[in-house]
Order: sequence, then C-alpha cells, then structure tokens
Amino acid sequence: MKYEFTSDLVTGNQLIDSEHRHLLDTINDLMDACGQGKGREKSMEVFRYLLSYVNKHFADEEKLQARANYPEFAAHKQFHDNYKKTLEGMSQSLLADGPTVKTLGALNQQVAVLVSHIRMMDKKMAKYLREHS
Ligand SMILES: [Fe+2]
Repeated sequence: MKYEFTSDLVTGNQLIDSEHRHLLDTINDLMDACGQGKGREKSMEVFRYLLSYVNKHFADEEKLQARANYPEFAAHKQFHDNYKKTLEGMSQSLLADGPTVKTLGALNQQVAVLVSHIRMMDKKMAKYLREHS
C-alpha cells in the first residue's frame, strides 16, 4: 500500500504542501526498502534521510509560524518535538532489530499520526498564515 498525497491533505501553502508530498514519497521509499527484503542497511539509510527531512520540514514550518506570530506556535512545536523523539526511538529499534513486522506496524501507526497532524494542525496553521500575511 502506498501513501498518497490526497486532496484532503492540501494546506494551500505551496512550500508546506510540496514538503508534505516529498515526506509521503520518502515514507513510501522506506516501506519499499523495509518490505522488499533490502535489509537493515538500506532501510536505515532511507530512515536516516527521512529523519533529516522531517527535521528540515518541521523547522521550515516553525519559521513560518514564528514569523507570523502564530498563536498556537508552542503547541504545534510541542507536537513536532515529540514526533521527532518518537522517530528517533524508532530508528534505534530499526537499527537494533532491522525491519521487523513490529517496526513496520509502529511505522504505519506513526504515519497515521503524521497524516492526521497535517489534516488538522497544519491546515489550521496554513489558514492562519494565509489570513495574516
Ligand atoms: Fe506541522
């Protein structure tokens, strides 16, 4: 199953949307690497790239929010910080155990968390940015 950038995920902010699209593409690459028996090394390589891209993307969103004095900045950043920590933890178990069914299940669960974050918090934030620029 591939994750798709469906219309309900569009925030209307060009930078954010293009980064979200790339995030989902990278997640699909990771699923492929884990699922196709390409092994731990390739999976870790893609996971490390995902981590660095998530960091960049969250930092970009936070910059936009800080610049616009977004009132929900603190809560949004809190989500980002927790999410990065969760992914760090997953990278540890991927490194230790390789792509197991359990790791993949946890990954899918975290993708669902991210997708609902996009649908709720990111759309709300993009709307604010649009109305206050
Ligand atoms: Fe966000």
